[in-house]
Order: sequence, then structure tokens, then C-alpha cells
Amino acid sequence: MKSALTAGTAIAVLLASSLIPSLTAAAQAAPSGKSAPVAVKERPWMDTKLPAERRADLLLAQMTLDEKIAMLHGPMAMPFGGATLPEGAIGSAGFIPGNARLGIPAINESDASLGVTNPGSVRGDKDLSSALPSSLALAATFDPAIARAGGQVVGTEARAKGINVQLAGGVNLLRDPRGGRNFEYLGEDPLLAGTLAGASIAGIQSTGVVSTIKHFAINAQEHLRMTANSVIDEAPFRESDLLAFEIAIEQGDPGSVMCAYNMVNGVYACQNDHLLNTVLKKDWGYKGWVMSDWGAVHGLEAFTAGLDQQSGEQLDKQVWFDKPLKAGVEAGTIPVARLDDAVRRILSAMFAHGLFDNPPVKGPIDFAAHMKTVQKEAEDSIVLLQNRDNILPLARTAKRIAVIGGHADAGVPSGTGSSQVSTPYQESPFPPRSVPLGGEGMMAAFARVVFHPSSPLAAIREMVGASSQAAMGIYPGEKAKASDAVVTFDTGFYPQAAAQAASKADLAVVFVYQPSGEGEDVPDMSLPFGQDALVEAVAKANPNTVVVLQTGNPVDMPWADKVKGIVQAWYSGNKGGEAIARVLFGEVNPSGRLPLTWPASASQLPRPTIPGWGEPEGTKVDVDYNIEGADVGYRWFARKGATPRYWFGHGESYTSFAHEGLKLRGGKAPSASVTVRNTGKVAGSDVVQLYLVARPGGSARRLLGFTKVALAPGESRTVTLPIDPRLLADFDAKAKAWTIASGTYRIGVGVDAGTVEGVQAVALPAFTLKP
Ligand code: BGC
Repeated sequence: MKSALTAGTAIAVLLASSLIPSLTAAAQAAPSGKSAPVAVKERPWMDTKLPAERRADLLLAQMTLDEKIAMLHGPMAMPFGGATLPEGAIGSAGFIPGNARLGIPAINESDASLGVTNPGSVRGDKDLSSALPSSLALAATFDPAIARAGGQVVGTEARAKGINVQLAGGVNLLRDPRGGRNFEYLGEDPLLAGTLAGASIAGIQSTGVVSTIKHFAINAQEHLRMTANSVIDEAPFRESDLLAFEIAIEQGDPGSVMCAYNMVNGVYACQNDHLLNTVLKKDWGYKGWVMSDWGAVHGLEAFTAGLDQQSGEQLDKQVWFDKPLKAGVEAGTIPVARLDDAVRRILSAMFAHGLFDNPPVKGPIDFAAHMKTVQKEAEDSIVLLQNRDNILPLARTAKRIAVIGGHADAGVPSGTGSSQVSTPYQESPFPPRSVPLGGEGMMAAFARVVFHPSSPLAAIREMVGASSQAAMGIYPGEKAKASDAVVTFDTGFYPQAAAQAASKADLAVVFVYQPSGEGEDVPDMSLPFGQDALVEAVAKANPNTVVVLQTGNPVDMPWADKVKGIVQAWYSGNKGGEAIARVLFGEVNPSGRLPLTWPASASQLPRPTIPGWGEPEGTKVDVDYNIEGADVGYRWFARKGATPRYWFGHGESYTSFAHEGLKLRGGKAPSASVTVRNTGKVAGSDVVQLYLVARPGGSARRLLGFTKVALAPGESRTVTLPIDPRLLADFDAKAKAWTIASGTYRIGVGVDAGTVEGVQAVALPAFTLKP
């Protein structure tokens, strides 16, 4: 049934299509959408001195009804269901044709936050992009500057491919550690997620490309995502998922918002008047446009409910925003003012972000420069979870190291789905290793783990000066290195063979991975492919075992007490192997902190079983988010007095830090200052984390501010963190305002969300803030 399809299905169809080679040529020959310069006199909206809205109005006044409607819907920009690539489309996720008469550029839309994708190699398999670490990894950096730099990489590459709208800015809060798309999002905290999404969007848009924040809103489980109904009351909604969007929109000013597949309180997100018209457009004063997710439109009523553009239209039951919309306007059931509003929003964002004045130009990409940013992001995202007996950093004097598992000989894993960079940058002419996951259902055909070509094994060998197997004689051209260190590799497919390799080594590094991706959640927190047994066997054979986790989520670790080191490397992107090796050997002091709370087991979660688990696609299911409400992640654990395996904010370092002299300032613009000191022997970066622990009415755990500080041994710095009063407030749904109660607020600095020290009190007056 067409309505049940998604972009994923389309990509699957595309993969099976024999049309690919001819279409690739067509895509390359397609016009860039750039129109010949016409005098401002003829096209007054091209006067760059005028504000974007004014220019949009001047252009709108010239448009016919058909021309307006043409801007409000568009197909997938790939061959689909027998249809060819839309004329003029570059080949990507979506396309809105341009208007030659008025000089309106075509909109070419590509996924996503983690790099510019090339779905089903629609632009050919030589069209490469930088593969950034997952967004969850980015969140672990706690560093908006890195988010912005990564955004610039994505935006620059989008432009170089002729893309002018990047479907980037996933900011759904992580409410379930089994979520298939958690790797595309920025963790469980609204301040952290909103701030980093905002910075990343700003980075993308600084290059002259519109960024699309998504998926609005509370699209927190993939299982049954087309029929799941997210149930949540207004106040906790505003204080959690909506707050993340609100902060990201304030800080990043994205040109567009993508509404989600799921229902919210019984109404599909893309036709949810409350969400789109009231919260987004009215309360927040959002001026950009709302586009649908691909296959998320269920009727024309979506238009009056605030959806401006129907995307990936073949995936819906009907193209509602074409003929039915026109008929509605002609019959007067849809006001012309609403039609104009939708077009004005698109045009204004296009003018504001340079799509008319500075259209993208296809050209080469400076991958060498981009790889530096990608590597820095990966390095700063790695979280040292456990370091017993200071096994890490690894001694460079180790003579024999057994590297085991995780396809570490090939690269680092990536998450699957529309965000996956399947043609990552690489020097090699051979495609990267790709492991199909198989199975049944919509996403099965293209669910494959692409190993981004940055081999941790090669990087470790490089680090200790060890020869690769190739240099040891297989390829006569390569020279053996001087070092007498030996780094062996075992695939880890058979625990017994891996244990044998480990028993002969000074230390063992086991790489384990968990595939996760769009379209489905993982059923539980276990590692697949028998990897727990692998770790157990290796740890038994060698007491000096370090595990490198490469996952999109927290996982159970039944072997945690039997290994010395545990490193969370996430899906680490195009330079992941190098980043991991540098952390293992201490060239980089790990500074990542968990952007999520790591449960000891799924029984601690608000929903121990994923709602609707075991039910077939199409089953309607209520997901009751009122259980935890705004207390997502660490707040839930704090509320329940439960102890997770690791708290949000956890992450060890090769040095130590002290926090001294916390000073709080009250009033209507509260802030905190604190001195952080490197008390250890090596340089390192600390994430200063400021938490609320109590407010009038009782205890409450909320991250109020954070900043990353790099310090030499003995060095100290005093940092000042402004506190957004919304983080101290309750949202009053009736008064539609944030209310800050007068009284005493207790605030401290956390090593993590569960360990808050040096708590001080500050008095605040009562005040309210409009949303
Ligand atoms: C995803 C979106 C993506 C779109 C276009 C959908 O399946 O949910 O995140 O932007 O496809 O590829």
C-alpha cells in the first residue's frame, strides 16, 4: 500500500532498479537551477538591499495560483516506482521544481546531519561525502563550536553538489535507549540537544544552505512510527521535547521545520494544528516553512493545520497539495491568505539564506580540510566509561596487541537509514565494506552497516609502528616497519579463536558493535552476533582487556567487571579509526561525556518494553510519555531514586579536575561562576556541568549550563554560565507562560548528573516568561 511507504522503501526500490546508470548521467547533466541574471528593474525582488520578507512579498504578488501551488509539493529526487528522476533534479531526497519565468531556483533537498547522503548512489558511486560521527557522538562532545564546524562541513559539501536545502537538525529527545534513530539525535537533555542542534544548523546555514530541523515532534520511537500516538500533556511537553526544538530554533534559526510521522495526542504531527499553528508559528513566532516528512501527509486538512509543503509526495496516498489544494482555494474553502502565507514562508527563507542571491555551485570538495574537522569531532566525542588499574592509555611499549572483532580491519560502523553516508570519502577505488542486515519489512532491503573506511586496526598499527600484515609479505611493494611490536587481528567470529589470539598478547582490544537505524528500534539492550560471549572469552584469556563499543545506544554489558577498560566510540565517522587509536594511546585525552543515562537494565525504564513490540506494521499504539513527562533520562532516575549504570554526563579522563568557589547570581537573569582546575599530570578538557538539585516545592534535577574547558596540568579557569530561567521554571499550560516561583534554588556542579557537588543556594523572585 502506497501510503505505508517511506523514503526507505523508495531507496530499496531504487537499489533494485536497473535505471541507475542512465539516471546518474541524467543527474549529472541536470541544470543547476541557476537563472540568467535579469535586471532588478524587471525583478524588484532581486534587490538584495530589501529585507527577505519584503522580497518575498514582491515576488508573491507576481505569482499565479498554479505557480504558488507548484512550490507547495514535490517528489522524491530519485527514480521511484518506475518513474524517472524528476527533470532538473540533482538526485537526492527531495525536489521542488524551480520557476524559470520568475527566476525562482529549484529546491534540491538532501539528508542529513551526518553528511550529505547519496541514496542508492543516485548520483553515482563516485559522488563522495565526508561522513561525520553520529549526532549522538556530537552530543557527547558537549561543544557547540564543534557542532558549528561540523555543520559548515556539511553545508559546504551540500553546496558543492548543488544542494540548497539540507534535511539536517534531528533534535528529538532520547526517551528510549533502544531507539533506532537515537544515533541521529543529540541525547536526552533539552538544553544540550537544543544548543548543539542550534549550533549545527547555524553552521550549515552559514554556507548559504537552508537547514531543516526535524522531526517535529516527540518522534521518540521508530517501532510502528507511522501509527504510534505520542501521548503527553502540554506542560511536560513544553518543558522537554518542545524546549529542545525551541532552543535550537532560537539559536540556529533554521529556514524550515520537518514535521514527524507519528501522531501527537491523537492527531498526526503533520496535521496537528496545535503543534504547527499554535506552538510553532504563533507562540514561537516561527517565520520559516514546515515541510512534511516523506510519506507523513494524510489529507488536505494538513494545510490549514499549518503544514506548508508536502515532501516526497509519491509516498503519500495522494498528492493533496496539488489539485485538491487548488480546488480548495478556488472553492474558497482554503483562504488565499493561507495559501500566500505558505508560499511567503518558503520564499522568505530562501531569500534570507541566500538561495536566490548565492545559489550553490557544483565543484570540488576540500576533503583534506574537512577530515580535520571530522577527526576532531570524533576524538572529542569518545567517552572513557571505565579505566580500571589505569589500563588506558595503552603503553606504547606493549610488544604484542591482539585486536579483535567489530570489522576493525575495515572501518567503523555507521547507523542505517536515510541519514547514512553510504558513499563516504575515501582514497580507495573499492567500495567500503558493507554488511547487509537483511530481514523483512520496508527498510530491510537497504539496511546495511557501511563501515566508514577508517580502520582502527590500521591506526593502531600506525600508532605503535607495527607493520601491517601486508607489509609482512603479502604485498611485496610495502615495506615492513622498524618496530618489533606485533598487532594481530582476529575477526571475533569464533570466541575460541579470539581467546587464543588474546592469550598470546600483552593486551587485547575488542571492538564490538550494534547496528541501529531508521524504521525500527532494537528489541532490547543486548549486543547482537554473540559479541557478549566473545568479550567474555577474551577477558578470560587475557586480564588486560579493553572493549571499544561502537553503538547507537547504551547496551547491556554483562562482562563489565571482567574487563579493565571500556571506551564508547559511537558511530565515529570517516576518521573514527584514527580517533579511537589516538585516545587508546593517550595522544588524545578523552573528554566526551555521556549525553544519555545508561540504564543498568531495561527494567529501570519508564517503559520496560517498547510499546507495541511484537505488533505488526500498521498497528495503532499509544505511547504514554506522561509516565516520565518532562523527566527524561537522568531526571527520571533522580526522581525514582534509581541508580543507572552510568549517569548522563559521565566520562573519565587521563587527568583529574576540581571545581571550586561556585558563586550564584539571582534575579531575572541568573548565572553561576565556578573555577575549574586540572589537578592531574596531563593536559585535558573538562565539561563543567551545572545542575539544579532543588527548587521551591522539592527536589528537581536539571542541567542548567555546560561548557568545555581545555586545561594544562595545574591550570585553572573561572567560567561563567548564564542560566536560562525556563530551565528553572514550570510551564503553565493555562496561562501559556513559564512561571518561576519565588524562593530558594539549590544548584551545584556535577561530575555527572548523579554526582552534584559544592551545592549553593540562590534566591529568585517570582516572574513569568512568555513562550
Ligand atoms: C526520514 C527523514 C528524511 C526523509 C527524506 C524520511 O524517511 O524520516 O528524516 O529526511 O526520509 O529522506
